[in-house]
Amino acid sequence: MRTSSRLTAGVTALALAVPLSLALPSSGLARTGGGGGVDAGDELLVIGHRGASGYRPEHTLASYELAARMGADYIEPDVVSTSDGVLVARHENEISGTTDVADRPEFADRRTTKLIDGMPLEGWFTEDFTLAELQTLRAVERLPQVREENTLYDGLYQVPTLDEVLELRDRLSEELDREIGVYVETKHPTYFDGIGLSLEEPLLADLDEAGLDRRRSPVFVQSFETTNLIELAEDGVRVPLVQLLSAGGAPYDLVAAGDPRSYADLTTPEGLAEIAEYAAGIGPEKGQVIPRLADGTLGEPTSLVDDAHAVDLLVHPYTFRNENTFLPTDLREGAAPDDYGRAIEEQLVFWAAGIDGMFTDNPDTGVVTRALFLDGAEPAAA
Ligand code: G3P
Ligand code: CA
Repeated sequence: MRTSSRLTAGVTALALAVPLSLALPSSGLARTGGGGGVDAGDELLVIGHRGASGYRPEHTLASYELAARMGADYIEPDVVSTSDGVLVARHENEISGTTDVADRPEFADRRTTKLIDGMPLEGWFTEDFTLAELQTLRAVERLPQVREENTLYDGLYQVPTLDEVLELRDRLSEELDREIGVYVETKHPTYFDGIGLSLEEPLLADLDEAGLDRRRSPVFVQSFETTNLIELAEDGVRVPLVQLLSAGGAPYDLVAAGDPRSYADLTTPEGLAEIAEYAAGIGPEKGQVIPRLADGTLGEPTSLVDDAHAVDLLVHPYTFRNENTFLPTDLREGAAPDDYGRAIEEQLVFWAAGIDGMFTDNPDTGVVTRALFLDGAEPAAA
């Protein structure tokens, strides 16, 4: 569904009676008759960003499972490589922020500084650990100041392999009687190519082994870089690809190749037409869809959704979160950064702007706002 409505900056409180059915998890995916998969673009998608990372340490099986149980259509593993070429789920290859590695004396000598995408970075890196070593570590909450409750789970969960995530997806799809999709992001593909640990080959092997390499498989593959997606498309990969975009900077593969194009160039109608040659969708920062004004309040939608739809690209912006610190200033409640604000209103404005799905740390909230939107709710100030 792609509706557009005139949105104003001042979004006031919603006064909605929420039918009981809307409070329950429900899928936004259309069921298919024979293939058992989904067609990209059939329905509005709720994508569990790093799982249900608003409630559990990100990129753990517990986070992905909770996301699925909350009604997410897709769970989102970011993947990097171990030294022995196994894909594991981490947001970045430097793991001091999301594991207890800094407290492990046996790995103290692995601390080092590397150039990652042209920037010096100090810490511990997945590519310096075998899978067996990495799995002795335990995940911790990335944002303990904002998500203190999640620290309850620090130390409980391993870093999962992509294989384990795909097995979980399969088990939960069976149990919940609906297809749970995976929305895999390759992290730092140029960097990993450069150290002989290319991500794409093991990714395709893992998808193939799980029977998830078909056109109708419930899979998206996403990247902030362009070259790896183009090569996947040229190699005949059948699952849909998504070009991630950013409000600033440039894809690192283009920087490394001396190509002057930036994300801003990719976001023009001409850039989007080029993306449409290899991808099924774009994943912009949400501020590229509706920017904030100088005072931090929500502004007016850009033409990005219409421009992308004009060349048949899906639009799945990131990242929707419930806490005040991540919300427009006019949708915050109280002064505490970690308190929840009026995230439901923010999301209704974005659904009304015509997005096709959203990455959210709080999949339960995304499921509710999608249901409200599909039931005709509009932002109060629209
Ligand atoms: O992949 C969509 C979104 O997750 C991109 O941002 O940095 O959270 O991976 P990031
Ligand atoms: Ca991601």
